[in-house]
Amino acid sequence: MPTLSPLFHHPPSPVQELFAPLLEERGIRLFIKRDELLRMGPGLALCGNKWRKLQYNLLAAQNKGHDTLLTFGGAFSNHIAAVAAAGQAFGFKTIGIIRGERPRGLNPTLRFAEACGMQLHHISRSAFRDKGGKAFQDNLQQQFGNYYLLPEGGTNTLAIKGCLDIVAEVEQQLDSFPTHWCCSVGTGGTMAGIIAGVQDRAQVLGFPALKGDFVEGMVREVLASYRLEGYRDEGSEQQGKRGGHWAIIPDFHFGGYAKWAPELVDFINHFYRQHGIALGPVYTGKLFYGLFQLIERGYFQEGSTLLAVHTGGLQGIEGFNERFGPLLAVGY
Ligand SMILES: Cc1ncc(COP(=O)(O)O)c(C=O)c1O
Repeated sequence: MPTLSPLFHHPPSPVQELFAPLLEERGIRLFIKRDELLRMGPGLALCGNKWRKLQYNLLAAQNKGHDTLLTFGGAFSNHIAAVAAAGQAFGFKTIGIIRGERPRGLNPTLRFAEACGMQLHHISRSAFRDKGGKAFQDNLQQQFGNYYLLPEGGTNTLAIKGCLDIVAEVEQQLDSFPTHWCCSVGTGGTMAGIIAGVQDRAQVLGFPALKGDFVEGMVREVLASYRLEGYRDEGSEQQGKRGGHWAIIPDFHFGGYAKWAPELVDFINHFYRQHGIALGPVYTGKLFYGLFQLIERGYFQEGSTLLAVHTGGLQGIEGFNERFGPLLAVGY
C-alpha cells in the first residue's frame, strides 16, 4: 500500500484576503481559507473538507489493516468522488453504495468514481433510507466481507478532528483571530470541527445547503457525539450558557440540496470574474452568496474580521453544467 505521508506533510492551504467595494464600505475584512486548493489524488475530488474529513480516517483504516473502504452517497455526491479518489491515490479498494437505480449513462461524478476503480452498487431509495438498520449492515458484511465503513457525507469523530485542524492552521496564518468563522453545512461535521477548534473565541456561522429546521439539532448531535468520544471541548459548557457561539443561517439554501436559482449562478460567475475563485453550486456558492447578503444587510459590525472556509466541491460543476446547461463559467 502506498504511504499515507503526503496526507500529513503538505504546506497549509493559503488564506487569502478578498477585496470588494462592499467590504470597504462596511469596514469589514474577509479572508478565505482556500482548502479547495489542497488537492490529493486524481482530479478535483479529494480536496477541501473531503480531504480534511478523510485524512485521519484513511490512517485509521490503514492502522486497522483494512484494504477496502465502503461508503454511501447520492449520484452527485462529492463524498463518493472523494472516497474513490482516495482509494486510487492510497491503494484502497473502494465500494460506493449509491442511492437510486443505475441510469443508462453515468453522470461525471459516478464516471469519475468508476474510473478510479470504485465498485458502484445502486440500491433503491427506500433501501438507501434503511441503510442504518442491522439487517442491511449484516447483508453488506456478507456481500463485501471486511471493510472500513465511512458514513454518508463522511462525518464521524475522525472527520471532525480533521476539520478542527483548519482552525489551528488559520491561527498560524493570521495575526489576529477572526471574529466570525463561516462554512457550508451538509451533515454538520465540518462546522462541528470548526466550533470545536474556535471554542468561545469567536462566532461560527453555518450556511446549510439543505432546507429544513433540523440543521441546528443535527449540528448539536454531531458535537455531542464528538464529546462522547472523549475529545476536548472546553467551549461547550460556556456555549450553552451564553446562548451560543455558533448559529445556523437558514436563509440561503435556495430550496435544498440540488436546488439553485439564476441569481446564484450569476453570483458564482461574477465572483469568479472578480476574484478568480471558483465556487461550487451546491455548497460554497450558497455560502458566499449568503455571506455577502448578510454583509449588505448590516449583520456584521464595522471592524469585524470574517474567515470563510472554501470547502471545495468543484468536481460537481461539470455534472451541474451537463444537467442544466453550460451555466457556470468558472475555471479551476
Ligand atoms: C464542498 C462541500 N462543502 C461543505 C460540505 C458540508 O460538509 P459537512 O457534511 O461536513 O457539513 C460538503 C459535504 O458534505 C461539501 O461537499
